[in-house]
Amino acid sequence: MLLNGHIALITGAGQGIGRACAVIFAAQGADLVLFDKNPETLNNTSDEVARMGRKVMKYTLDLTNLEKLREAVENACKIGLIDILINNAGFDRPGTTAKIDKKEFEAVLGIHVTVPLTLIQMLLPGMRKAGWGRIINVSSIYGIIGGKGEVAYSTAKAGIIGLTKSVARECGQDGVTVNAVLPGLTRTPTIETFMDERYKKDIIADTPLGRIAEPEEVARVIAFLASDEASFITGIALPVSGGWGI
Ligand SMILES: NC(=O)c1ccc[n+]([C@@H]2O[C@H](COP(=O)([O-])OP(=O)(O)OC[C@H]3O[C@@H](n4cnc5c(N)ncnc54)[C@H](O)[C@@H]3O)[C@@H](O)[C@H]2O)c1
Repeated sequence: MLLNGHIALITGAGQGIGRACAVIFAAQGADLVLFDKNPETLNNTSDEVARMGRKVMKYTLDLTNLEKLREAVENACKIGLIDILINNAGFDRPGTTAKIDKKEFEAVLGIHVTVPLTLIQMLLPGMRKAGWGRIINVSSIYGIIGGKGEVAYSTAKAGIIGLTKSVARECGQDGVTVNAVLPGLTRTPTIETFMDERYKKDIIADTPLGRIAEPEEVARVIAFLASDEASFITGIALPVSGGWGI
């Protein structure tokens, strides 16, 4: 029970890596605040976590509506001190530099950079005051190697690494660690539904472990970084990619 006595806010908890985090965090004893825009999947995760005996609050909202986001966080703080933040929710809008639509580019930066920044601004003061906190931002291997036809996503995922390192420098002395996890190709509903098999094959061919990750394999690393086991790790961008991108 590495996370006993802690409360974690997880964005994008309805499915994929966010859902796996919720279940693994609950198994490690954390109470949870879960955010997602999809009420159906969010309910499923929330029900599963509640069945595990954990306290859970869930909020259905579009995180990019910053006013609604702030309201939800203020309300969620009634659960107690939220001392773990997992910035996981995200989406992709493929496009090359020549073709990317400016609005779509900004939307991708919004969900991957502005939303995490807003959540950090709201929750960091409480963590600093308590002298303990964990922030884990879910970036991507594309954030360090770039992606052809993925200019918005790669830029956003590099941006969240810069945010991670800057906040880590600001709040280390207060007992708060801030790290980024960089998944490789991971078997989540979005990847399974929307990614062309051709692209999957190319990435797997370039992955030394020769396969796609399960969401739990990423979530377990996030849970480790959230625990006291990772007490002297801050400011890292940790690939969980089976070697893709080395
Ligand atoms: N799956 C992969 O191969 C992979 C690889 C590298 C990085 N990542 C990153 O990991 C994170 C999770 O990925 P995943 O594959 O589990 O994603 P997913 O698409 O399967 O799930 C994302 C969840 O976030 C929610 N969400 C998206 N936009 C939202 C918004 N505006 N407001 C509220 N909720 C919103 C969705 O409803 C969904 O439940 C993302 O940041 C993604 O970029 C994934």
